[in-house]
Amino acid sequence: MANNHRTIGNVSQGVWNRICLGIARHLFPAQVRNVFYRMAGVKIGTGSKIGATVDIDHSAPELINIGNNVWVTRGVMLLCHQRDLTQYEVGKPVMDCELKYAPIVIKDGAHIGIGAIIMPGVTIGEGAVIGAGSVVTRDIPAYSVAVGAPAKVIKKFGLGD
Ligand SMILES: CC(C)(COP(=O)(O)OP(=O)(O)OC[C@H]1O[C@@H](n2cnc3c(N)ncnc32)[C@H](O)[C@@H]1OP(=O)(O)O)[C@@H](O)C(=O)NCCC(=O)NCCS
Repeated sequence: MANNHRTIGNVSQGVWNRICLGIARHLFPAQVRNVFYRMAGVKIGTGSKIGATVDIDHSAPELINIGNNVWVTRGVMLLCHQRDLTQYEVGKPVMDCELKYAPIVIKDGAHIGIGAIIMPGVTIGEGAVIGAGSVVTRDIPAYSVAVGAPAKVIKKFGLGD
């Protein structure tokens, strides 16, 4: 449903997304939650777990791509849309700015700490670890640890580390 214009089709898709995502976030175990997340359009690989109360963007769940063996822990927010401020001006309501959408990709083996917020357009690299409460605004490289708001890489793992 990632566009700015309401049609019967995308309003009903939005209602469906809210129902699936709303049910999923309170279900257990995680395998059952995944069924409902997939029904809303989220792509989830095998062995991945999405914790309870994770908040998945109901306006564009199809833009979220989660690899294999990923952990998205409790209370994380995955956000795929925001206002496009390029046309924002003094005296104009910000709500008049169009929404812009961008995908989130979380690659195999990544771990997203409790309460982190992943912003639109971000790719979390394979095996990357995101600290609890972080706000991730830029891509995070594979096998690194990133923390804070905005999240910065504090450790990298690799040959010689
Ligand atoms: C990010 C994390 C993995 C780092 O663990 P670590 O590699 O052992 O790192 P350290 O504890 O040595 O911390 C390294 C630095 O990062 C800081 N830091 C650690 N976690 C942080 C966080 N979430 N936000 C901001 N800063 C953080 C530490 O204060 C420390 O800073 P300093 O060097 O200035 O003292 C861990 O702190 C974390 O947040 N894990 C997620 C926990 C979670 O959500 N668990 C869910 C249940 S499975």
